[in-house]
Amino acid sequence: MMKFPACSSYVLSSLCLSLLSCTLLSSCQLPNSSEEPFSLIQSKAAQTDKTKSDAIELNHDEPEFPPGPGHDLFVKRCIVCHSLRYISMQPDFPEKTWKKEVEKMQQTWGAHISDEEAHEIIQYLTRVKGVKP
Ligand code: HEC
Repeated sequence: MMKFPACSSYVLSSLCLSLLSCTLLSSCQLPNSSEEPFSLIQSKAAQTDKTKSDAIELNHDEPEFPPGPGHDLFVKRCIVCHSLRYISMQPDFPEKTWKKEVEKMQQTWGAHISDEEAHEIIQYLTRVKGVKP
């Protein structure tokens, strides 16, 4: 009769011990097991950052006009309302057609281009996209 409580307290204490060690073990392992996903997340974030900082070259096909006198003024004045493609897709024109075209931009569409600037642009266009009349 006296042996049973002693036995049961032994069983209980060993149960407690094993429970405790289980808790200890799992509490020790918990930070460990949560550390890996965390570092994974971190390295993923680092990868994303790296991708973000990489330059992505977009495929753009803005036409290129050769440099020379009048080029910079032409680009500055004629890109205000539309792409330079509007101009590059035109056939080569004689000077008087370019003159008409630039005057149309001034008069019909209200382009802010002085007459001297218009002259310089017309000369440039006739040089790079001109044809004998
Ligand atoms: C104030 C705005 C504006 C500026 C600045 C401008 N354009 Fe335009 N341009 C237009 C508009 C609007 C059209 C479209 C007309 C249409 O679709 O009928 C156009 C169309 C054109 C076209 C297509 C053909 C045509 O006559 O419609 C050419 C060529 C052109 N522009 C050349 C020029 C050049 C060269 C310059 C610089 C000297 C220039 N544009 C600056 C407004 C502008």
